[in-house]
Amino acid sequence: MRVLLIGSGGREHALAVGLAADPSVEQLVAAPGNPGIAAVATLRDVKATDPAAVAALAVEVAADLVVIGPEAPLVAGVADAVRAAGIAVFGPSAAAAELEGSKTFAKDVMAAAGVPTARSFTCTTAEEVSAALTAFAPPYVVKNDGLAAGKGVVVTDSLPVAAQHAADCGRVVIEEFLDGPEVSLFVVTDGTAAVPLMPAQDFKRALDGDEGPNTGGMGAYAPLEWAPADLVERVMAETVEPTLAEMRKRGTPFSGLLYVGLALTGDGPRVIEFNARFGDPETQVVLALLASPLGALLNASATGTLADLPPLRWHDGSAVTVVVASHNYPGTPRTGDVIEGGEVPGVIHAGTARRADGALVSAGGRVLSVTATGPDLAAARTAAYDLLDGVTLEGSHHRTDIALAAIEGRIKL
Ligand code: AMP
Ligand code: GLY
Repeated sequence: MRVLLIGSGGREHALAVGLAADPSVEQLVAAPGNPGIAAVATLRDVKATDPAAVAALAVEVAADLVVIGPEAPLVAGVADAVRAAGIAVFGPSAAAAELEGSKTFAKDVMAAAGVPTARSFTCTTAEEVSAALTAFAPPYVVKNDGLAAGKGVVVTDSLPVAAQHAADCGRVVIEEFLDGPEVSLFVVTDGTAAVPLMPAQDFKRALDGDEGPNTGGMGAYAPLEWAPADLVERVMAETVEPTLAEMRKRGTPFSGLLYVGLALTGDGPRVIEFNARFGDPETQVVLALLASPLGALLNASATGTLADLPPLRWHDGSAVTVVVASHNYPGTPRTGDVIEGGEVPGVIHAGTARRADGALVSAGGRVLSVTATGPDLAAARTAAYDLLDGVTLEGSHHRTDIALAAIEGRIKL
């Protein structure tokens, strides 16, 4: 089949590597892509959030399947436009992508479906914000209602900081703080059938020891040997199945990738957020361990045939990825710095660009991630940091403690 992949981040590079390795994918086109993706796909330029432009490109390249990586095109209705052109799409409709596009919508679906999540209030005025903040004890959790590229959430013990973030955002969801280790569970679905992938853990804070501001994600690992044995089964039964049923009931079935962000609290797994697409950088580790062909999996979601797909197969061992971020990320990042050693297997490109003279340069906040596997988590971690030692980027920073607490048995349930 001919596949068109939309996006240009690390998640899309990981997806491109997986798709290119699937023998059923005869041709892979990516738009707009990045220099890393260019090594495995033909690049085309497109405005990823323009539904008509993406649909026209899909027709032009005679795509059998369009895979949409990021949330912004989904929320903008790109999947709808491609489907209207008669082409199979991996990714939800704009209506279903509201599970990510609006925190209030997601909370409403969860309430209707009886899904365990934090108690919350949606607020637009200073009075509502003040009432909501006094309803909860610190730490306060204040979330921008709309899309914010992983940076719309403030968790703080300071009442003025919480109130200021609410004022800066306009419409916010203020919710109860959920205590416990976080897990990202990816579920591939065609709206009815649902197949969970391997749970992974992301590191959202910028600095070692989970200090500093929230980011889009600074590293990840899988599998989670410390997680309860029934975790996936429980989340499928308590959260995923009821959510998919509620979306069908509303006439807006969700197909594509349902990303369930969870906190494993003393009262069981609670949903922190839904996303409507693969997570970044968790995708890098989950796909590194997936042995089944990726194109066939995504195509089964797109064509409503997931129930017929054979059970997924996984490689033994573990995978670790560490993000290399630009100077000043998650603030306004410095770009244009030269990257050395960035074009080897395992280096996944996100914010990279090719300069006119051919040099690879930084072009965004999260520049690249180094991904490695190993027979166990410690070996995978060592391999990932060894890979990182071969990459240089002036002014960059990365976390040095990805997967360390898990290896040292310091994750408390
Ligand atoms: P989100 O964008 O909703 O994933 O939030 C980003 C990060 O903020 C999450 O990964 C958590 O670390 C933190 N967070 C969000 N909501 C809560 C909550 N209710 N309780 C504790 N931490 C939260
Ligand atoms: N890694 C978090 C996200 O993709 O939203």
